[in-house]
Amino acid sequence: MKAIITGITGQDGSHLADLLLGKNYEVVGITRRCSVDNTQRIKHLIGNPKFKLVSGDITDVHSLLTIFQNNEDVDEVYNLAAQSHVAVSFKQPGLTWDITGKGCLNVLQTIVNLGLYCKFYQASSSEMFGDSYDVDTHGDKYQDENTKFLPQSPYAIAKCAAHYITRLFRESHGMHANTGILFNHEGERRGENFVTRKITKWIGEFVRWKKEQEASETGLEWNYNTTEDMISVVRDPNFDSPFSLVLAKGAKFPKLRLGNLEAFRDWGYAVDYVEAMWLMLQQDDPDDYVICTGTTHTIRDFLAAAFNVVGIEYWENFIVIDPEFYRPCEVDFLRGDSLRAKEKLGWTPTHSFEDLVKIMVETDLDATIQNIS
Ligand code: NAP
Ligand code: GDD
Repeated sequence: MKAIITGITGQDGSHLADLLLGKNYEVVGITRRCSVDNTQRIKHLIGNPKFKLVSGDITDVHSLLTIFQNNEDVDEVYNLAAQSHVAVSFKQPGLTWDITGKGCLNVLQTIVNLGLYCKFYQASSSEMFGDSYDVDTHGDKYQDENTKFLPQSPYAIAKCAAHYITRLFRESHGMHANTGILFNHEGERRGENFVTRKITKWIGEFVRWKKEQEASETGLEWNYNTTEDMISVVRDPNFDSPFSLVLAKGAKFPKLRLGNLEAFRDWGYAVDYVEAMWLMLQQDDPDDYVICTGTTHTIRDFLAAAFNVVGIEYWENFIVIDPEFYRPCEVDFLRGDSLRAKEKLGWTPTHSFEDLVKIMVETDLDATIQNIS
């Protein structure tokens, strides 16, 4: 079996490549030119004879044509490439449209123009629901495949366009074209400017800094000043030491700057979610599927759980609320219902919210501890 993955260098692309290579697929990943190396997440795959990187960009139909002509025997295409950051999409809406929206059409049309018989997966998003939800018999809010879309960002609008164009190709060209409406999924490979990873990375770096201070001096008293942007250590007045020298060198650590802490997200583990993508393409008929955990938490909950892993209870002391990280429009509530995926694909998530938080914090702690030694 041969698969083409767009977005191979991203979180999901790298996990999907691991999964498919484990199933003995030949994997062709599309990468775009970058001024610095961006293959960190797939470094371990480079050199694998079944894994190949080809140069292309989903906004450039010429490059897609060449890639697909060279791989006419492809069985499965996973379109994961996107400008995937919601806040960035407000600042670069045109670029987001070209990549996240039109890019999907470019891939689909290339497949049809070349007359290829492959299955197709489009990475749709729970962000498409925006302000919309249904209410179940217990009075709880949820979103599933029948919930209407009410997108609240240029990113979500581009994803809606890609979603509908995928369905249109299914209906008008008879393609095995699927969409996975994936709710937020995270993990140790998550981009550092998404809120979960931003938090766990900060915790890893803070713990390292704290250890370094403790190693350089004993008898310190920690001063968490909530009126400042910095966390600083102050010298214990009863302890005679040259610690003031350390302070003079700038023994301060910037607090974690975040925006809205009240939004609810249905957070799952990325490794579980790429399995669902693959399962969709193993079905006889194409469809649309919601993929989620069915549980929801606020950013505040994530913070409490993440700081709890390192034994810190009063995490509010370390946070600065910064208007810079608020969005012009917010999606307040996401909680999915993935009954269709359970019934048709036999898919359920295998990691809880608590598992996810622990994996992420512990990976970032390990990474920073390795940096010390
Ligand atoms: P990600 O880490 O941001 O990865 C995005 C990938 O797209 C990167 O490999 C990026 O390449 C590539 N890309 C961007 N522009 C491109 C272009 N013009 N041509 C070719 N490749 C391009 O995203 P992710 O979290 O893995 O998500 C994968 C997909 O699922 C995305 O479509 C995302 O919108 C969607 N999604 C994600 C979630 C989630 O919670 N993670 C939920 C629902 C849907 P560079 O490395 O060169 O930037
Ligand atoms: N990124 C970020 N940075 N978000 C913050 C911050 C911050 O400093 N402070 C608060 N937030 C809030 C955002 O306002 C949002 O309500 C929530 O944290 C989650 O933000 P992100 O982690 O950036 O994810 P997202 O929900 O906007 O989008 C992700 O999930 C979508 C699926 O619902 C992305 O992966 C999208 O690509 C994906 O489609």
